[in-house]
Amino acid sequence: MKEYPNVMVFDHPLIKHKIAHLRDKNTGMKEFRELVEEITSIMAFEALKDIPTKEVEIETPLEVCTQTMIVEKSVAIVPILRAGLGMVNGIHTLLPTAKVGHIGMYRDEETMEPQAYYCKLPQGIENMKVFLLDPMLATGGSASEAIGFLKKQGVTDITMMSIIAAPVGLERVAADHPDVKIYVSTLDRELNEHCYILPGLGDAGDRLFGTK
Ligand code: PRP
Ligand code: URA
Repeated sequence: MKEYPNVMVFDHPLIKHKIAHLRDKNTGMKEFRELVEEITSIMAFEALKDIPTKEVEIETPLEVCTQTMIVEKSVAIVPILRAGLGMVNGIHTLLPTAKVGHIGMYRDEETMEPQAYYCKLPQGIENMKVFLLDPMLATGGSASEAIGFLKKQGVTDITMMSIIAAPVGLERVAADHPDVKIYVSTLDRELNEHCYILPGLGDAGDRLFGTK
């Protein structure tokens, strides 16, 4: 696929190892959920490197020093329901002050077009750095639509985080939204005739929540 300056694909043995387990059809719901969370946390170290910080005075038992701390209320995490929910704790445990918004979207099984059904965003989100979460980026329709929606709410600083992407979907989102940083754990081969990612991991929502 063409190179995009706003796309970062991880090449890390720890992530690769965990994704191998995630793909395995014999991996059960509990382990699947834990893996999604762990992979998100590893990605977060890189993806959150530019979050707003401030200098504060801290008194150690020995002296006063100036230290760097994260600016509270400066970050929002927005999962795309359902599967994005599985990624939330991977960041929230690292950054408990982050606000959480929700965007509900599902793919129409005939047209593959995203259908929005729910939205609740934190007040003042337009002034926050927003991390949009969805483990699967297939045609890119859901991600692109969700980003467009956030922009309409006035959000200007958006980072997308996905675990597995198909080249066609990643190219679509990168081209539709060149101002959005996109972090992807791994880039898969292609989509099948039902727009599922190959080799992929199947339906992320069903595997996270045991619905099939
Ligand atoms: C999955 C996934 C993404 C979307 C990706 O959700 O979690 O949101 O498909 O596909 P796209 O890139 O082609 O839009 P799904 O529609 O299965 O809904 P669910 O999470 O509620 O199962
Ligand atoms: N959504 C999923 O959960 N898996 C895919 O492979 C594509 C879309």
